[in-house]
Amino acid sequence: MARPADLQRRAWRAALLRFDADPGTGEAGHEYLPDGVLLVEAGRVAAFGPAETLLRELPPDTPIEDHRGCLLLPGFIDTHIHFPQIDVIGSGGRVLLDWLETHTFPAERRYADTAYAAAAAEAFLDELLASGTTTAMVYCTVHAGATDAFFAAAARRGLRMIAGKVLMDRNCPDYLRDPEGGGLDETRRLIERWHGRDRIGYAVTPRFAASSTPAQLQGAGAILREHPGLFMQTHLAENRQEIAWTAELYPEARSYLDVYDRCGLVRERAVFAHCIHLEQVDRRRMAQAGAAAAFCPTSNLSLGSGLFDIAATDAAGLRFSIATDVGGGTSFSQFRSMDEAVKIAMLQGQYLSPLRAFYLATLGAARCLGLATQIGSLAEGSEADFILIDPGATPLLARRHAQSATLSQQLRVIMTLADERAIRLTCSMGVPVHHARHA
Ligand code: GUN
Ligand code: ZN
Repeated sequence: MARPADLQRRAWRAALLRFDADPGTGEAGHEYLPDGVLLVEAGRVAAFGPAETLLRELPPDTPIEDHRGCLLLPGFIDTHIHFPQIDVIGSGGRVLLDWLETHTFPAERRYADTAYAAAAAEAFLDELLASGTTTAMVYCTVHAGATDAFFAAAARRGLRMIAGKVLMDRNCPDYLRDPEGGGLDETRRLIERWHGRDRIGYAVTPRFAASSTPAQLQGAGAILREHPGLFMQTHLAENRQEIAWTAELYPEARSYLDVYDRCGLVRERAVFAHCIHLEQVDRRRMAQAGAAAAFCPTSNLSLGSGLFDIAATDAAGLRFSIATDVGGGTSFSQFRSMDEAVKIAMLQGQYLSPLRAFYLATLGAARCLGLATQIGSLAEGSEADFILIDPGATPLLARRHAQSATLSQQLRVIMTLADERAIRLTCSMGVPVHHARHA
């Protein structure tokens, strides 16, 4: 993509934060520079270091963006979100299956209209970027046209996005149903068209076991074996009623996870949303297969699904990330996800540190997706997707930030009080793609 010459190389001065390990076991695993410079060249991180030394070494014509007072970190990565559910956010208060019938399926019906879907895709991407999210793993609808429209919108903006057409061939309204065992040819066509093009990745997307026939799940597994590097996303063990129903539909399976495992869906680059009511043996199986869980706190609370068990997930060695699950989730903002995640941990006598929460929404999420060499780290050579958080964005945030003596305290105050007003800038491949709306 052609870029204005002055965007080829640019230095960003701010407080810098990046991770190189999971700080879950302590406060290690991060690098924090109170006055740092991120040097971006041709969309990639060229250097990350203290301003004092880096400024002296820069080529003399390098433009410098001075954002001292702000915190620069990798853009958020949201590993579980539904693009059409921008139209149901704020409709919680019902449990999963009831909510799907009452709000979600009727809203997704509108996406049969590709022009409607294309406009919604723009609104959805605007919301992600305003929230500081630069990569997301996205469910589209059952409609190939809507999925195509989403990819086209993401590609036009040069964003690293992963998405897929929902596969659903039973237990859903006629108007959203793939032919029995179908939806697979459309999936193949979308993969040919989009997977690996620009910064797009394709996720094979069976909605959940209950809304696919065994033939459709087997077909999803076959597609994954055909194309290296594909992603997979589905829902797992979110709600007790859903789990009992799945057991009735698949009596031969040992567990809910086993339904997917028998079809080859439990693998690397596979993200299973929720994973609340799981046996430990299933968590271990997921870990062994290199799969990941997406912890969606605002959704789990809004739909009354249950409490994600961080300690059990860690004990199994299972990777997880923090995600929004809009529109079961109630906010596009990963600040809200992190804040609610801390509370869910506390309700179970567990602890989630602010540093770990930020890790889980950045590098931790990139690792769940198998994309850690590209995004989420701000390591030299990686793609320069980053955000600038302005802790002075609101009077209360500024007041509490000024009183925060340590980085951990600052991050806790940010995740509690910040919202999209505090996302001063969102950059994709070093190029600003969103400025705070009130600025
Ligand atoms: N399970 C199956 N479909 C959905 C969905 O759209 N949202 C959530 N939260 N869970 C699901
Ligand atoms: Zn979901």
